[in-house]
Amino acid sequence: MAPRPWRWWTEHKLQILQKYLQAFAKASMKVPERIYLDLFAGQAENISKETGREILGSVHRALNTEPPFTRIALFELPAKAKQLEQALRAQYPRRRDIKVYPGDCNDTISQAMADLASVRWAPTFAFVDQHDNEIKWVTLEKLARFRKRKQRPRCGSSSGRASTVADLNYARRR
Ligand SMILES: C[S@@+](CC[C@H](N)C(=O)[O-])C[C@H]1O[C@@H](n2cnc3c(N)ncnc32)[C@H](O)[C@@H]1O
Repeated sequence: MAPRPWRWWTEHKLQILQKYLQAFAKASMKVPERIYLDLFAGQAENISKETGREILGSVHRALNTEPPFTRIALFELPAKAKQLEQALRAQYPRRRDIKVYPGDCNDTISQAMADLASVRWAPTFAFVDQHDNEIKWVTLEKLARFRKRKQRPRCGSSSGRASTVADLNYARRR
């Protein structure tokens, strides 16, 4: 699949995302699990429309976060999901924590949450990088309710807050 070209503001948005992810990982470093959900994961390869240089998409930025996310759930429409999974398996052969959910994220989110049920206590960052208005309100409600204080081991953070849901396009659409 050809790299997807993005304008400068998308690169800027992704740089902001990276700072959020880094701060989030640092704040939750005392617990053994951190979850990253990317509801509109995109492609493995992206480039700048202005310069032609490679731009790291949200998935790579999440995968490069330190301390690392320990569960990574990626949502994409089927054709792109297949390509994304193949590219990630080749590029990160040692990462066993990545799971790609092909299909409409509004449908597949429930399966992902079921798969992650045993670590629902873990700090959870959800990135909702929709292009238009694909996300359903009910999906945002599910994300907000996902994290539960119960079963969290006693080591570190005392926060029982709901998941962090980031939609960095919100201001642009208003
Ligand atoms: C703005 S792009 C995401 C870019 C990506 N976050 C990145 O940094 O490279 C939106 C993506 O959402 C995908 N998409 C659109 N509708 C979707 C849906 N209902 N469920 C999952 N993915 C969807 C599109 O195929 C597209 O790749």
